Amino acid sequence: MNKNNLGNTDISSADRLAFSQACENNKQPILEVLQKQLQDSTHVLEVGSGTGQHSVYFAPRLPHLQWQTSDVTDNHQVIQAWHDAYPASNLYAPLAFNLLTDSIPKTNTGEPYDAIFTANTLHIIAWSLVERLFELAGEALPFKGKLIVYGPFNENGRYTSVSNQQFDLSLRQRDPNSGIRHKEDIIALAKQHNLELSCEYQMPANNQILVFQKITAN
Ligand SMILES: C[S@@+](CC[C@H](N)C(=O)[O-])C[C@H]1O[C@@H](n2cnc3c(N)ncnc32)[C@H](O)[C@@H]1O
Repeated sequence: MNKNNLGNTDISSADRLAFSQACENNKQPILEVLQKQLQDSTHVLEVGSGTGQHSVYFAPRLPHLQWQTSDVTDNHQVIQAWHDAYPASNLYAPLAFNLLTDSIPKTNTGEPYDAIFTANTLHIIAWSLVERLFELAGEALPFKGKLIVYGPFNENGRYTSVSNQQFDLSLRQRDPNSGIRHKEDIIALAKQHNLELSCEYQMPANNQILVFQKITAN
């Protein structure tokens, strides 16, 4: 397997690792936003790291911060395989974190994470868990800490594209609790937990990044 510490994928390694084409497509545009938004951050908790592909790409390109992956334990082996293939000194093995049962952990020095990032999770998890994520983030983040979410969102009560409409229908057929969320609902939910929308980015393939910042010191 060819390795390099920048998480660039080659055919030989991709053959052996759980692979998401969507992650390959969106990792560079997401990174460009994270490089701006996480300039002052030191410890990032990624919720729902999935395959781990994002983490091996982002961590070495954000060398000023520590990148902590997390997911439900069923996904840890897959994430760890990517970490073993593309290790980085600021990339940490997945923590067991299930929104159903867990609180946001502290960093290993006992400090709170000053940023939380999650990609493509809000349309998968039930709305009650979306509420839980924002509640936990609002409790755990320090003043000016950031919650950054990536994925598709509806706007003004509408799908933003035909492809998102089709995606939403397929999600709901698979699990009626899943579905693309309304941006306005997410912004209102965030406000309830002292998280204010500070930036938003239109991303390729009808996705968006929403950046929320904690506006109180708890
Ligand atoms: C569509 S995947 C996204 C993975 C990755 N972030 C990406 O962009 O490809 C949704 C992720 O949410 C995670 N997830 C689902 N339910 C969860 C829960 N209750 N607590 C924490 N993570 C959960 C899944 O394990 C999975 O990694």
